[in-house]
Amino acid sequence: MKKRIFSGAQPTGKLHIGNYLGALRNWVALQTEYESFYCIVNLHAVTLPQDPSTLKRKTLDLARIYLAAGVDPEVSTIFIQSDVSEHAELAWVLNCVARMGELERMTQFKDKGKGEERASVGLFTYPVLMASDILLYQTDLVPVGQDQKQHLELTRDLAERFNRDFGETFVVPDPYIPPVGAAIMSLKEPQKKMSKSDENEAASIFLLDDPDTITKKIKKAVTDSGTAITFDDSRPAITNLLTIYHLLSGLPLEECEEHFAGKGYGDFKKELAEVTVEFLRPFQAKVREFDDATLKAILRRGAEKASAIASETLRNVYERMGIR
Ligand code: AMP
Ligand code: TRP
Repeated sequence: MKKRIFSGAQPTGKLHIGNYLGALRNWVALQTEYESFYCIVNLHAVTLPQDPSTLKRKTLDLARIYLAAGVDPEVSTIFIQSDVSEHAELAWVLNCVARMGELERMTQFKDKGKGEERASVGLFTYPVLMASDILLYQTDLVPVGQDQKQHLELTRDLAERFNRDFGETFVVPDPYIPPVGAAIMSLKEPQKKMSKSDENEAASIFLLDDPDTITKKIKKAVTDSGTAITFDDSRPAITNLLTIYHLLSGLPLEECEEHFAGKGYGDFKKELAEVTVEFLRPFQAKVREFDDATLKAILRRGAEKASAIASETLRNVYERMGIR
């Protein structure tokens, strides 16, 4: 039997090349080797305030982006989190397994919510809902970017604790964090990750940016002092841009440095912009191909398939705990 993958993204903000290079690209690369579940996590989205009609639209738009990126609905299961009510039910159970102290240590909550009197309780228990997503499907592997590593560690801890207290119930999942591209950095502040919630639009290349915008953003991206175009941790801006070049062009790492030896930042940025525009062109054309009816049919089918597995896991969990 094939091993299982689960991953997801929130239908908020605009997806950027960090989301693609850190996550989506690997979902596509791994989808045939594993039985794969790719979820649109709208219940996670509402841990922060969302406009209802925008959320609705973005939920379908994200399905479009999964498909355009190459997630094949004939191979992988694509569905909306709220269509499978077991996600919220298992989250309640795991909220009773998780400890205040371990959630207080989650850096994402510290960044987004700590000290905010008005932060929602949902934001605090966000990682528990994520653990439920993963554990419901007896997932073996979770392809994500570097920023989700701590949430995966919590997921493993919760699975192990539950298994110890109630008997073997959950597969303990491994993260898949790619060796290159797991943390694409901001074009403006290369010590910060490229983020959907960055107020400065010029810091990110969005997957749906037009060619002119992409070229301008790359041209204005900050660089490091010096002139060398090499991978070097002490020069994070150029290393980030070169990483993007490497992943989008497909040119092997070593050859990237060789390719730009003796060239200046101007030439490098021009080529990087061309590679990025050409890479995104077919993707953007594909995004426009899917009509709402097709998407809804794919998502309905996905939810049915996911529900069958999720309900079996939840039934087992309840039975072991003496619920029902
Ligand atoms: P989100 O936008 O938070 O729903 O993230 C969706 C996926 O993209 C997750 O697996 C993240 O780890 C990944 N991701 C987000 N930002 C980056 C980034 N700057 N570099 C690499 N991966 C990222
Ligand atoms: N927390 C993830 C993010 O913001 C999204 C997510 C929710 C997820 N549930 C998941 C990712 C389960 C992997 C597996 O990127």
